Amino acid sequence: METFDCILTRSSKRDFKDISVPRDVLDKLLEVSLNAPSWANSQPWEIAVSTGKTSEFIKERIYKLASEDNPGNPDYPFPEFWPKKQANNMFETGGHRYEALGIVRDDAARRREITLSNYLFFGSQTAIFIYMDQKLGHWSTLDCGMLIQNILLTAHDLGLGACPQAYLVRYPDILREAFKLPTGKKFLLGISIGYCKKDSVINNIKTPRLGLKDVVKYYE
Ligand SMILES: Cc1cc2nc3c(=O)[nH]c(=O)nc-3n(C[C@H](O)[C@H](O)[C@H](O)COP(=O)(O)O)c2cc1C
Repeated sequence: METFDCILTRSSKRDFKDISVPRDVLDKLLEVSLNAPSWANSQPWEIAVSTGKTSEFIKERIYKLASEDNPGNPDYPFPEFWPKKQANNMFETGGHRYEALGIVRDDAARRREITLSNYLFFGSQTAIFIYMDQKLGHWSTLDCGMLIQNILLTAHDLGLGACPQAYLVRYPDILREAFKLPTGKKFLLGISIGYCKKDSVINNIKTPRLGLKDVVKYYE
């Protein structure tokens, strides 16, 4: 796939088939993605791929906590405040998504159902978790972001769907237990990945973006 096409046609997928991604496909995806740039090639990222029984363990536990409205204790706290401009972008994106799904804003039950499906990997059997050592800071987080974008684009190129999810790292103690990691390893993001249901409405939502004139300023 051409780079432009790959970037322009990728979108987050939130409805997966209940089938596993073969190990060789995951290896290929990650081998390519590891070519991300990083500060002085420090390569701060660590990756845990969850499949099979490990996914069942994680899903069961995080879904239960989320269903109980447990706020969790993400290693990198979720934002509590957004400046007006970004809050507007998020509000519009939410409105656009729920409109496409035919859900009115005050249909709390349906919205909750969609939110909770985050914790079931949106039906996939596989998720990729990115974590790093707690001694690493801001610049390493940026590096991991570049790896994550590589994963999303490479997955798309390989015919896989993916959704980057902060919600998947809301309960990091469960992840450390599942992956047998010490407390010094901190989770940045989870990515549900798999074969998505191509005709599902939620998988065909193209989120809007601000244009050049809203974002870019040239200085001559
Ligand atoms: C850091 C980060 C965290 C995200 N967390 C979630 C999440 O927890 N659940 C979810 O459904 N989508 C999540 N997303 C996906 C965004 O909602 C999505 O990327 C955005 O709306 C743009 O849509 P697109 O990816 O389809 O272009 C996250 C994306 C990023 C980059």
